[in-house]
Amino acid sequence: MTTENYAGLQSVIWHDDKLDLLDQRLLPEEIVYLPLVTQEDVWEAIRHLKVRGAPAIGISAAYGVVLGSRDAGSAEDWLADVRKAAEYLATSRPTAVNLFWALDRMKARAEALASEGHSLEALKEALLIEAIAIQSEDEETNRLIGEHALSLFQDDIGVLTHCNAGGLATAKYGTALAPFYLAKERGMNIRVFADETRPVLQGARLTAFELQQAGVDVTLICDNMAGHVMSKGWVNAVIVGTDRVAANGDVANKIGTYSVAVLAKAHGIPFYVACPLSTIDLNTPTGAEIPIEERNAEEITEGFGKRTAPQGVKVYNPAFDITPNEYVTAIITEKGIIEAPFDVNLKKLFEQ
Ligand code: MRU
Repeated sequence: MTTENYAGLQSVIWHDDKLDLLDQRLLPEEIVYLPLVTQEDVWEAIRHLKVRGAPAIGISAAYGVVLGSRDAGSAEDWLADVRKAAEYLATSRPTAVNLFWALDRMKARAEALASEGHSLEALKEALLIEAIAIQSEDEETNRLIGEHALSLFQDDIGVLTHCNAGGLATAKYGTALAPFYLAKERGMNIRVFADETRPVLQGARLTAFELQQAGVDVTLICDNMAGHVMSKGWVNAVIVGTDRVAANGDVANKIGTYSVAVLAKAHGIPFYVACPLSTIDLNTPTGAEIPIEERNAEEITEGFGKRTAPQGVKVYNPAFDITPNEYVTAIITEKGIIEAPFDVNLKKLFEQ
């Protein structure tokens, strides 16, 4: 995939000593970049889904650490501020492990730098370079994921996706959507079905938007239409992103992913999960230990800008679910395609 051919909007841009963040809540109707200048701005943007998608959250948080430590007056204060910023930003959302991965990486870099005895200005500059590296590595990672994923697809097939694991959710190209951009560039025809993804509509607002902008053949369906579309024989594969893969291959992703995986299995359709290594968490043994974020009731009762449920009704609104590993055909990473047994093969991936 070439950068010249990819015209997607960038969700996170470091520019002029601040973080310009595409407000994803306003898409597809408005394209607005918010200037973020403090770590609190970044925390709030992550919590309220102005930026969302596991890799984009991690990248934003890395810049948040830069913002949270840039006013320090001594090397000692700087390191303390880095640690505090990392701890604070880690409380913004619980499920996507990329957030904690990026914060740990920033902290480790700061600690290493501090032990080398640089000037305060050099420390600050080097930490910014680390955040920029996290962002640019993600771009290359997604290009590789796209190549591996496309090797599983033929020309003239239908593929269903859920939520948004596209360019908007990452530095560029996306994970699950990367093969569609690559296919387009190579003249292949893949028909994408995008689940609208209730309650926050990442599929309708973001996936349909970014694929349509790129000229990819995309058809929007409501979440409850996936089984019907599969039964018609229109779906040859499912591909989704993920917020965290446990050591045994259980996968946390946007609520509704589990239902799609069960439907795929019932129809004999392969179910693929695309993610960078930074989304794989060998410290979490199974999906049962992955913390699942619960969000406010209004996302369900007033999600379309008007009340659609009775006042006072009880609401349960988990943002993610767990797809057990037996439903996962393969996990597609920048290092290649991983199949069962996932506990053995995921571990091997990190030993390579
Ligand atoms: O609540 P969100 O929009 O942050 O959820 C995002 C997802 O579930 C994505 O599929 C996942 O983060 C992978 S993004 C490459």
